[in-house]
Amino acid sequence: MTDQLIDNVTADGAVYFIFGATGDLARRKLFPALYSLYREGKLGDKFAIVGLARRPRTDEQFREDVLESIKEFCRYKIGEGQEWQDFAERFTYHSLDIGNVDGFRELQASTEALEARYSIAGNRLFYLALAPELFGTVSRNLRDGGMLESAGWHRLVIEKPFGYDYPSASKLNEEIRHVFKEEEVFRIDHYLGKEMVQNIEVIRFANAFFEPLWNKQHIANVQITLSETVGVEERGAYYNKSGALRDMVQNHMLQMLTMIAMEPPSHLDPEAIRDEKVKVLRSLRSFKSGDEVRERVIRGQYTSGELRGQALKGYREEDSVPADSTTETFFAARLFVDNFRWSGVPFYVRTGKRLPVKSTEIVVEFKNVPGNLLFASRQQLQPNLLVIRVNPMEGIYIRINAKKPGNEMTVQPVAMEFCQSCQVGINTPEAYERLIFDAARGDSTYFTRWDELAAAWQLVDPIAAAWQEHAADLAHYSAGAWGPQQAHKLLHQDGFHWWPVNGQDEDNVIWVSNTGK
Ligand code: BG6
Repeated sequence: MTDQLIDNVTADGAVYFIFGATGDLARRKLFPALYSLYREGKLGDKFAIVGLARRPRTDEQFREDVLESIKEFCRYKIGEGQEWQDFAERFTYHSLDIGNVDGFRELQASTEALEARYSIAGNRLFYLALAPELFGTVSRNLRDGGMLESAGWHRLVIEKPFGYDYPSASKLNEEIRHVFKEEEVFRIDHYLGKEMVQNIEVIRFANAFFEPLWNKQHIANVQITLSETVGVEERGAYYNKSGALRDMVQNHMLQMLTMIAMEPPSHLDPEAIRDEKVKVLRSLRSFKSGDEVRERVIRGQYTSGELRGQALKGYREEDSVPADSTTETFFAARLFVDNFRWSGVPFYVRTGKRLPVKSTEIVVEFKNVPGNLLFASRQQLQPNLLVIRVNPMEGIYIRINAKKPGNEMTVQPVAMEFCQSCQVGINTPEAYERLIFDAARGDSTYFTRWDELAAAWQLVDPIAAAWQEHAADLAHYSAGAWGPQQAHKLLHQDGFHWWPVNGQDEDNVIWVSNTGK
């Protein structure tokens, strides 16, 4: 990030409108992110934040809510002295019926007053922490209420789920695009805001080690695991309609896959990068029949089980979930990127709720060295791995083979780790901080462009359609297990296995790590 880009945000300032200001996302993520940006000077002096929701609330009550949220969720500690007062005074609350354009006209008048007070040049960022059904109405009323007539830029930031399938996503997109241009729309996938997901580009394109090997000649397979220990919590009603496919695969999993598989962009500008990503999505081998889905995709649902001594109920017993639900809480698939670089290399992806650990990791497994006279007869060599640890640990490790000290020529795997999150003094910004900041400075690199989204839906829709026809394909797994057995078979059929996440569990590997372990 250059200083000039920071200056662009701070010099002219902006008003940040948080629609859904009394909701969970605002409380857990957005207010803490805004405070962190403020603490780091990234909001500059010229900013104001307007909370919007239907429920009546005074500015004072709203500021109390914001303070509580920052205390609970922000990575910076907040005092209640002058510093808090200075920040708090920038927050105002506006009760709004989003279906009524008159409310937006009033908002326009009060916004002009705020802009005059803080010398803000008319830049307006609208963050819709709302149900997607409301995006179209809000966009229209922003326009009809005069909110888009100020002198500066206008940007719309929206959250998933962006549609339920390709047709609904396309309709939603049209409603928004009647009002906002594509370059004004910032579609959030919070995985793209994560430090280690952004780091993939640097690891790949700034190291001479990897690029020559990054292809079908040298890579045996890629494994992307996003496992969660949580169940569906209080989100049963939403989740039951969405399932793992729409909640995690269509967005986060495919975005990580594109970062691993994309070609180096010709320029480092957002459109060049997103052009490369969309090419990967369009190269993903589509599912042409229900049989193909059955062959390459596993879907599972958790039944009751146990995790670390705690008894857990099954998905069908969760609140707001029907007792006969066939929604998947686990997804695994063998995907292929059918282009020159990746032809024939399987990309295995898996994600699920109520798995044994919370972890997001990407494993790149290299092909074995050619039949090696010295070692092959004595022992099986383990493949080299490059592992990118996204979450909750952040870092990277490589696994190589080395000689075990001693007279015997014994080979043992050695893992060399750089643990980023273990370093003292590192306080990694939250995904939402980066994303709000990027939207404010107009950098859309880590937001999803419409054509990416469309391509992702086009891959996912045939899978959902096949499942609808064959409800019997749903496999079950006990809460606390690594998904259904079929997910393991998927790799065994190809002669591979899932590498354990948090590789330290493997006791034959010697670890060399900056954590001192
Ligand atoms: C969200 C999903 O997009 O990502 C949730 O809706 C999921 O179901 C969450 O729990 C996982 O995000 P993270 O950052 O905690 O890995």
